[in-house]
Amino acid sequence: MDFRKAVAMKVSELTELDLESVNRLIEIPPQEDMGDFAFPCFTLAKTMRKAPNMIASDLAGSDKLAEPWLSRVEAKGPYLNFFVDRGAFAKEIVSDVLSKGTTYGQSTEGEGKTVIVEFSSPNIAKPFHVGHAFTTILGHSLSRIYEKLGYKVVRMNHLGDYGTQFGKLITAYRLWGDEAALEKDPITELLRIYVKFHEEEKNDPELTTSARENFKRLEDGCEEEVALWQKFRDMSLVVFEQLYKRMGVTFDNYNGESYYAKMADQVVDMLKEKNLLVESEGAQVVDLEEYGVPPCIILKSDGTTIYGTRDLAAILYRDENYHFDKNIYVVGIPQALHFKQVFSTLKKAGYECADKCEHVGFGLVKFQNMKFSTRDGNIVLLEELLDESVAKTYELIKANAEARNSDMSDDELKAIAEKVGLGAVIYTYVKAGRERDIVFSWDTMLDFEGDTAPYLIYTYARTRSILRKAKEQGFTPVGSGSDLLNKLSGDEEFACVKTIADLPDAIRKAAASNEPFMVSRAVAQIARSFNRFYNNCSILGGDDAELKTARLALCEAVCDAIEAGTYLLGISVVEQM
Ligand code: ARG
Repeated sequence: MDFRKAVAMKVSELTELDLESVNRLIEIPPQEDMGDFAFPCFTLAKTMRKAPNMIASDLAGSDKLAEPWLSRVEAKGPYLNFFVDRGAFAKEIVSDVLSKGTTYGQSTEGEGKTVIVEFSSPNIAKPFHVGHAFTTILGHSLSRIYEKLGYKVVRMNHLGDYGTQFGKLITAYRLWGDEAALEKDPITELLRIYVKFHEEEKNDPELTTSARENFKRLEDGCEEEVALWQKFRDMSLVVFEQLYKRMGVTFDNYNGESYYAKMADQVVDMLKEKNLLVESEGAQVVDLEEYGVPPCIILKSDGTTIYGTRDLAAILYRDENYHFDKNIYVVGIPQALHFKQVFSTLKKAGYECADKCEHVGFGLVKFQNMKFSTRDGNIVLLEELLDESVAKTYELIKANAEARNSDMSDDELKAIAEKVGLGAVIYTYVKAGRERDIVFSWDTMLDFEGDTAPYLIYTYARTRSILRKAKEQGFTPVGSGSDLLNKLSGDEEFACVKTIADLPDAIRKAAASNEPFMVSRAVAQIARSFNRFYNNCSILGGDDAELKTARLALCEAVCDAIEAGTYLLGISVVEQM
């Protein structure tokens, strides 16, 4: 039973308003003494020709409100406040979670619909830095969130694997490339020769010519140049894939810019045919004045296509092959204008799919008092950030384990540190609205009491240990549907059940706004409310054995909800720590 829906149905029955409008109007009151759900009566004033306050008090007196799941209904000013029966509510919600386990929150609303999530998209031969981590983590999370809601998700990595820089790399590699260094650490070596190329180029115009020629040969499919490019691409991907694997990130394909470059001519032809190309300073552009954005460049003055042309080709390809209902781009805010131009161009060309494309932007990454060993200019590598976080987490949990005389082996501690350390980084990216800049600081992200992954994972692990201890003492949680769950009606228990009940809606809202933080906030609230309960009520103490087993069921539901929620963020829990 969905309590919100039940309340909406009740109101609809009393007022003859349609269910959907009622559902939209129902609010969660800001204070406990205002009930669990509230219906504002303003909208009824006109049709009923009565003051909203009057309507509320009349409705509150209706005898149709007697229901076993409602403890009372009160009028307060223009609001009709519903107080659910705590026991019935707890039984309903906890049973639901126990029967579903970590599939709790799953729905079918996306069934039959396809969402393309394009994310990560690093550039070949360039370091994978903390900005690419932002898109990787957000996109990974959004993919899981959409999947949870029943959508078919296609994860795409639009690799930056095309462009004139590859002509430069080929020239540089032939002159200064070190095969052994490339095998050992491909990205560092490729970056080294790339930087060297730019330094040398200043005094040697022949390098520029050679790079241009090599790019041309690459474009024309000349064997040797293509082979080198392929090598750079493959080797970079090996490095990227190690990171993806470490974080549990997967893709359905790596169709990067080179893949769509082949189709760019079709875009040019189509725009020509529709008479949309105009000349501007030698280049061919699509004028977008009516959309309030600068023109979209399609062909440069030398006749070559650019980044945007390839993006246009990619959308047409995706539309044809996936018939997407949504095509989202998880890319930094600085590219907002670029996407506006691309989408507007398609719209002007009459493609309906333009309206199904969405740029999901995010802010900048900053650091507070953090030093990294291999810092290269201002670039912080994701790998360094993860390694440092894991190393610091290891020290913390090791000290903790020693203090508790725990018998965990060093290998176990290391495995836990890997998950918690990664979680700490990931959580920092998803704990607030994605457009806000994020600031990394060890003190904040590794605070076991703060708004952090370690806090969530610790709450989970400790709750698991309560369940294990209970089992040793011969107590097992009651199962789904048990009437003993009605006993979970104390203030802290009720507050905790409510936060669990909020998770499915948070998941829906996260997808609707492409904001994983809606999920992270909901999970954090579950953990907070559970800890309040844990600190105030003894779960294993007391001599009411029935209450004990009901509380253990709440523990189990909390674990399932936290595990389900953190999974959606890309964070793994651990059984002990
Ligand atoms: N490779 C680009 C970068 O690192 C991001 C690509 C974004 N995706 C796109 N379809 N343009 O900045």
